[in-house]
Amino acid sequence: MENALKGYPDRIKHTLGVRDRALELGKIYDADLEVLEVASYLHDMTKYWKTEAHQKLINNPMITDHFHEQLYHPISAAIYAKSIGVTNPVTLEAIQYHMWGKIEMALETMILCVSDYCEKNRTFSDAKVVYQMALIDLDKAYVHMLESTLKHLKEKQITPHQDQIDTYHYYLKKENKRINDIIK
Ligand SMILES: [Fe+2]
Ligand SMILES: [Fe+2]
Repeated sequence: MENALKGYPDRIKHTLGVRDRALELGKIYDADLEVLEVASYLHDMTKYWKTEAHQKLINNPMITDHFHEQLYHPISAAIYAKSIGVTNPVTLEAIQYHMWGKIEMALETMILCVSDYCEKNRTFSDAKVVYQMALIDLDKAYVHMLESTLKHLKEKQITPHQDQIDTYHYYLKKENKRINDIIK
């Protein structure tokens, strides 16, 4: 990771921050710590690749045409991880979906998403809110994080990806059902 991100000290710092956060949350939620550690190290490995390098590795126009190029790195990082010997499907899922998760994701994927957002080097105030929430309720922290991201995109007049919207609605519904079941 340090070799791949040579020249990007802040990204190395971020990666180590994600690892620390993911292991901290992983212990609370009884997740697979090895999966979290490997996925944390590898999740942003291809972040600074040129568009052509992502396209070459992904080698699938169905994917590259469907996603904005800023969204290539989780996909190429997962393929890259596989090419260097990562075989655990949960590790690969966590890397590939670390930006906003996916419907019916593994616990480790959700932890990586949340950790990516709220690791200690993140300076925006919501990172602290999400971290505090995650310590007591991971699902709630995840939904809050997605909501904030969608609001932020709207402010910047950036259209979110349809998968991001669908994932948000899926987990929001799940979260509301959970709360209703508690108070019923
Ligand atoms: Fe990333
Ligand atoms: Fe990251």
